[in-house]
Parts: sequence; C-alpha cells; structure tokens
Amino acid sequence: MIESRNRNLLVSAAAGSGKTAVLVERIIRMISQGDNPLDIDQLLVMTFTNAAAAEMRERIGEAVEEKLKEHPEDEHLWLQAALIPQAQITTIDSFCLNLIRNHYNSLDIDPAFRVGDEGELSLLRNDVMGGMLEACYEENRPEFARFVEQFGRGKSDKGIEDVIFQLWEFSQSHPWPMEWLAKCRMELYKEELGEIEESAWMKFLMRDVAAQMEELAGQVEEALLVCREEKGPLAYEPMLMSDKAKLEAVKRGALGKF
Ligand SMILES: Nc1ncnc2c1ncn2[C@@H]1O[C@H](COP(=O)(O)OP(=O)(O)OP(=O)(O)O)[C@@H](O)[C@H]1O
Ligand SMILES: [Mg+2]
Repeated sequence: MIESRNRNLLVSAAAGSGKTAVLVERIIRMISQGDNPLDIDQLLVMTFTNAAAAEMRERIGEAVEEKLKEHPEDEHLWLQAALIPQAQITTIDSFCLNLIRNHYNSLDIDPAFRVGDEGELSLLRNDVMGGMLEACYEENRPEFARFVEQFGRGKSDKGIEDVIFQLWEFSQSHPWPMEWLAKCRMELYKEELGEIEESAWMKFLMRDVAAQMEELAGQVEEALLVCREEKGPLAYEPMLMSDKAKLEAVKRGALGKF
C-alpha cells in the first residue's frame, strides 16, 4: 500500500489504526526517494477539515525533520522543509475556492465573490423557489397542475417545495446533476411508452413489494395458528384467510412484473 503508485487507492481502516501514518509515509517517500524525487509543492493533499489539513502538514514536517537528522547533507530534503509552509495541503473547500479565485476571469464571475453562509443561502433558495413557483402557476401547464395536486398539502405550497428541494439536494450529490436529472426524466418518459416495468428502479420496487407481501403473509399465517389454538379466537379465521390470499395475489402480481 505504501509502495503502490499511479493508481487510485482507498485506505480504509479502524480509527487510530495508522491511516494518516500510511499517507504521510507515502508522501515522504515521494519527496525523498528515487533519482528525481518530487517537491512537496508539486503534490496536492486534500482533507475534509482544517484540523486534518493542519495535522497532515505538521506530521509531514516532523517526518522531513526526522529524515534530515539521518541525512543532514541532503539538499533536496532541506528544500522540502522550506517548502512545507506553502505546500498545497488544504481542505477541499479552500482548494476549490483558491482555484476559482485564480481563474475567475475564465469563469465569467464577479472577482469580488465570496462564500455565502447557510442562512443567506437558505434565504436565496427560498426567493428562487417562490419566484419559480409563481412563474409555474402563471404558466399553468397541466403537468404542473397535476404535480401540485399530487404533492401539495391543502392551500400551502410547503409539500411541493419540500419535494423540489429534496430532489434538488439529492441531485447535487451527483457529479453531473443536470445529466442525472435528464436521465431520471427519460426513465419517467418511458412510463408513457409503457416500458416502465423494464426500468431498474421499477424492478427493484416490484421485488421489494414481493418481499414485503411475503413478510406480511407470514405474519398472517402466524395469526392463523393462534386462531386455531384450543379456545382460540376462531371467528377471525375467515378474515385472515382472505387477507392471506390477497397478500399472496399481490406478491404473485409483483413477481410477474420482473
Ligand atoms: N506502523 C506504526 N507503528 C507504530 N505506531 C504507529 C504506526 N502507525 C501509526 N502509529 C501511531 O498510531 C497512532 C494513530 O495513527 P494515525 O493517526 O496514523 O491513525 P489514523 O488511522 O489516521 O487515525 P484516525 O482514524 O484518528 O485518523 C499515532 O500515534 C501513530 O504515530
Ligand atoms: Mg487520520
């Protein structure tokens, strides 16, 4: 693991088991071994939190110092020690922010941009949502009317706003949200073409329905056993039999769909 190069590598191990130690060692070897060792500022080291980035920088610094004790004549190592403060050891957020700051002109955005805080963003989102719904009501397409009918709760738009935000947030966790949404749209479009039963999620749903029916039928079966016990509530038997038959019919129907 410490030696492998030029490929993706996932290091997964228990807390405190030495993951960071492995990563630090990999970096130290990259900047100290071979004929042409790298410079530390040629590497990009990204972490989730500021604390993790600080820990990483400190541990790389300590490791370089250890190496220097062994090889005080190594000029490349001295250079690394000097480069560490400006090495790209940063959180994902600050790396992205830097990238945008340095290239705002090619991105066509205001150079005075800043990162919004959660409260501001929430206000902005609500503004956009309000404006968008208003435009949709105005346009009044039948699809939209059906959507409101289906997801709206009474007079409030809360229900449909929740559904839209939920979908939007979920889409944002995909690397290409718009493409993902377009794919979902295609899947739904198939419904109109009668191919919906072929879609992966419909097959999943049907399998899930079948499994749930089986579980419920099993429970009814147990209730039947109780009914038939001596002095049991036998009056429930016909109703339970009928319930069981219905559950099994739904299960067969779902199974027949995939
Ligand atoms: N091979 C090793 N031999 C001896 N001690 C080690 C070894 N690897 C790591 N350690 C020590 O174990 C402790 C935890 O290591 P490290 O911080 O690398 O773990 P981690 O998996 O990154 O932990 P966390 O899940 O908290 O991030 C440190 O004090 C480290 O010095
Ligand atoms: Mg760690």
